[in-house]
Amino acid sequence: MARRAAGRFVGWFRPDRGSGSGTLQDQLYAAIRQAVLRGELAAGERLPSSRALAADLGLGRNTVLVAIERLVAEGYLSSRRGAGLFVAADLPAEGVRPPSTAAAPALSRRSAAAPGLHAGGESAVRRPFALGAGAMDVFPVEIWRRLAVQTLRRQPGDVLGYGDPRGLPALRRALTTYLADSRGVACSPETIVIVSGAQQALDLIARLLLDPGDAVAVEDPGYVGARDALASAGARLVPVAVDDQGFDPAVLASLSPVPKLAMLTPSHQFPLGMTLPASRRLALLAEARARSIWIVEDDYDCEYRYGGPPLQALQGLDGGERVLYVGTFSKVLFPGLRLGYVVLPPGLVDGFLRLKTAADGFVPGWPQAILAEFIAEGHLVQHIRRMRVLYRRRRAALLAALERHAGNLLLPRLSEAGLHVAAEFRDGRDDRAAAEAARAAGLTVAPLSRYAITRRLSGLLLGFAAFPEAELESAIQRLVKALR
Ligand SMILES: Cc1ncc(COP(=O)(O)O)c(C=O)c1O
Repeated sequence: MARRAAGRFVGWFRPDRGSGSGTLQDQLYAAIRQAVLRGELAAGERLPSSRALAADLGLGRNTVLVAIERLVAEGYLSSRRGAGLFVAADLPAEGVRPPSTAAAPALSRRSAAAPGLHAGGESAVRRPFALGAGAMDVFPVEIWRRLAVQTLRRQPGDVLGYGDPRGLPALRRALTTYLADSRGVACSPETIVIVSGAQQALDLIARLLLDPGDAVAVEDPGYVGARDALASAGARLVPVAVDDQGFDPAVLASLSPVPKLAMLTPSHQFPLGMTLPASRRLALLAEARARSIWIVEDDYDCEYRYGGPPLQALQGLDGGERVLYVGTFSKVLFPGLRLGYVVLPPGLVDGFLRLKTAADGFVPGWPQAILAEFIAEGHLVQHIRRMRVLYRRRRAALLAALERHAGNLLLPRLSEAGLHVAAEFRDGRDDRAAAEAARAAGLTVAPLSRYAITRRLSGLLLGFAAFPEAELESAIQRLVKALR
């Protein structure tokens, strides 16, 4: 019987002595494991002795023994002294069915609710006019490299060990000063939490403050990543159309039921680019206090203003009572850094930290340590200053090229900030078809309608920060040609 059983293996197991298939031990291990999983070797079935197997398969005894030892250690086989070798008796008798690829998996309602428009973003593609990134080629790599080595040598504990879910204390201290000086944000290292990108802040905020079905006011058009986070927390999105000044607090006041939260980009409305004026900020805060609405201030690219100093953050006006302030280093440094931060009202910090811990524990320490030094040594402020000059030039080049080559086609919205320009089609054409035509011509433009919920919009978002002036000019010429 033992010899017959070993004979079965001859058919199953064809040793591959060529390169790239692993050792004979590995191959035998995999073949027996597969046979057990498929049910071809039944639970409890007796196997031939290692000696018989080795003889029938033409393998060395040692090879067989090592494979068997591994299968016994993993619980596929059991070996009883004196009795022999068996397929483990506690495995399913019929084996394990291979995963089916045909049926769609049953997802939770929350995951199905997320529009997911943000996923697989075209912005990753480095073609004009991809959104999202700044000029990576002028990033001070040498300084970053020096600080990377230095922090690894001097603070190996901070850099290599488990970290604080709030984020590295040195980074929170550096940020407190930076945010107070540059944005008028009211914060302390205790109310800042470092997160992996603004996106994580939006996701955790949604889960912290919302129950499924809760109403949330969102800008229309607005940032799709924020809508993804809110929808996947089960929120009901209530679109508030932005006008020429941005989000209108009077509309917020008229909503019934009262939304639990409003998600805004007051410094530089995404995607249209207006800055919320002071009168509206004050009205918004009054409304938020009167009706206990949380305001999320997404200040994603506030550092880049070209026509004068920025308005101070809404959060500073509020003193951090109803406003949760979200920022990111994706625009100001680079998105691959995956570092963002949130400044929370003190009463929300513990709950947020519980969710942060549950989500991913903490943000990796090394990039935080490098960044803390980068800020402390003054490089962040210097980098922003240099980039402001560069981006102002690139923006001007884009606007000039638009006027020169596309004046009768596209009307840019005037905005003195950010890393992209929103331009509307004068003829109100189907902007998705236009974006598709541009894509075929090697350009990455986002149709404005992608960001709209109920608004009818026709236009393109053109990122300019990552592209030299000459490239912007020729890309606009290509765009116009593609759209004709
Ligand atoms: C309006 C807005 N908010 C937030 C973010 C997210 O930034 P992060 O890369 O930090 O997740 C972006 C990124 O494009 C954005 O445009």
